[in-house]
Amino acid sequence: MTRRVIIDTDPGLDDAVAILFALNCPQFEVIGLTTVAGNIGLERTTTNAGGLLAAVGRSDIPVFSGAAMAMARDNIDAIVIHGDDGLRGVTLPPPMVAARAGAVDWLAETLMAAPSGSIDILALGPLTNIAHLISHHPAAAGRIGHLVAMGGTIFEPGNAGPGSEFNFASDPEAVATVLHSDIRTTIVPLDVTRRVRADRDYVEALRGGPAGTIAADLLTGYLQDDRQSRPLHDPCVMLLAAEPALFALEVHRLTVNLGDDADAGALTESANGSPVVVAMRVDVAGALALLASAFD
Ligand code: BDR
Ligand code: CA
Repeated sequence: MTRRVIIDTDPGLDDAVAILFALNCPQFEVIGLTTVAGNIGLERTTTNAGGLLAAVGRSDIPVFSGAAMAMARDNIDAIVIHGDDGLRGVTLPPPMVAARAGAVDWLAETLMAAPSGSIDILALGPLTNIAHLISHHPAAAGRIGHLVAMGGTIFEPGNAGPGSEFNFASDPEAVATVLHSDIRTTIVPLDVTRRVRADRDYVEALRGGPAGTIAADLLTGYLQDDRQSRPLHDPCVMLLAAEPALFALEVHRLTVNLGDDADAGALTESANGSPVVVAMRVDVAGALALLASAFD
């Protein structure tokens, strides 16, 4: 069954591959992209989102820019991974349609206008926009069908602090807002995403159609060494939403570190924590096959 989805994103190389997959995946009808500051500043994540849509002829999908700043602290970025332009030099055409401001208001209006539970949100960056939606438009937020968010780590070491992951470290207060909400939420942490990587042969085999060629260019910039890519973090969100059977899901009771230390944004298991569904294991071969299938 096709699900209507909104992608909240900070492209970002792995975000961009995830978006291309979603646009080509028959299980999704992508009704809009909302952008957030994360891997790089908001202006660039928004331009990259519009450029991707232009590159694959999908400028019918609107882009709305959202939060330029985390809720309560200074931004961090991941330019060291994604490059100064967020896409490591992969050139996209300029957006064909200008992005509009007001992502949070658009999310609220769109959710209120649709049957409750009929729209899912696939969140690939810091959770700032989603947290503002919950705070300012709780009735609309309550109509989200399923929120699937890349972020956090349970047992793996962190990639921002010793035990914190980049998206959650970028805006811990937003994570707390989401955890305290009643939204049906599934988290895809580093424990899963670090297992899913592409090697050079896999990347080259994606070339063919326009979307696959751009995905291959993006993943070439995302290679960690001669042999394999960095983790395909954000594509795992799409893969889980499309084919949950590829993942082993567990309920964990989690709190988030709201301190100012190096591990801000880290998750801790606690009896008082909010119960949340977490993807803990993945069928790696199946996940990679599903990702590639969208670019055939
Ligand atoms: C997350 O951080 C970003 O750099 C990636 O796009 C991904 O969303 C991984 O920690
Ligand atoms: Ca991201």
